[in-house]
Amino acid sequence: MNPALIGVGFNASIPNAARMYDYFLGGKDHLPVDREAADRALKLVPEIPIGIRENRRFLSRAMRFLADQGIRQFLDIGAGLPTQDNVHQLAARFAPGGRTVYVDNDPQVLVHARALLQKSPEVLAAQGDLRRPEEILADPAIRRHLDFDRPVAVLLLAILHFIPDGDDPVGIVARIREALPPGSYIVISHVAVDERPQVAPDVERVYDNASARFVARMSSEIAPMFDGLELVEPGLVNLHEWRMDVPVTDPVFARVDNYFMCGIGRVG
Ligand SMILES: C[S@@+](CC[C@H](N)C(=O)[O-])C[C@H]1O[C@@H](n2cnc3c(N)ncnc32)[C@H](O)[C@@H]1O
Repeated sequence: MNPALIGVGFNASIPNAARMYDYFLGGKDHLPVDREAADRALKLVPEIPIGIRENRRFLSRAMRFLADQGIRQFLDIGAGLPTQDNVHQLAARFAPGGRTVYVDNDPQVLVHARALLQKSPEVLAAQGDLRRPEEILADPAIRRHLDFDRPVAVLLLAILHFIPDGDDPVGIVARIREALPPGSYIVISHVAVDERPQVAPDVERVYDNASARFVARMSSEIAPMFDGLELVEPGLVNLHEWRMDVPVTDPVFARVDNYFMCGIGRVG
């Protein structure tokens, strides 16, 4: 466990969504309580690590796409614990001079992000909650760092499945879209349970007392999140179908179809 994590907001008694994700990714920042919950999820859906690895690879392809469209400002909401190829590093690679803001509602993620980013003027880490997007978009520090008169890419990767229906995830994305200038983009990835709806309630139960509750959704419930956006080709697809840069020959992908969906929408 990284000592930087032993700080504000550190809670070792309940499973933590960011630390569980780090465990699935093969990282080092997790505790027994996280591993116990994550292992229960893995028993139900052994493909989780494949999906998460592909989610990170999708992020990399999405960043290259956004950079090619001229985007130089990135707002990553639900940033998670730092791992390999974080958004600001991909920005440095594909969009030199680009500016990144990381937002998360988990204070522990913020402690870690700030420890990592101390010396990077192009990067800011801020606490914020996706359930209240107006507060994120009005945050003075974020508005000093990003110019909302110019296009911004808002990254919502593997976070909307932690937003309950009661908080209106479709409405949240719409409110973000309305606040962005034309030429901006919203990037979404979201677990889908089309192929195995029968395990969905058990997976949801794994997160019952976690720092964030998981919400199982069908791809038909994810599609409306792109309403009002111009959906970039190839649309809302499986992670490995989004502009994959190598041939997908691994039969493992046949097993993860319709399990983790993604797409990019352009603000017109
Ligand atoms: C599974 S991680 C995803 C990390 C990264 N976006 C990725 O796709 O690799 C989800 C992150 O969302 C954060 N999160 C969950 N609910 C949130 C909310 N309502 N507002 C902001 N962050 C939230 C969690 O703390 C966690 O760090």
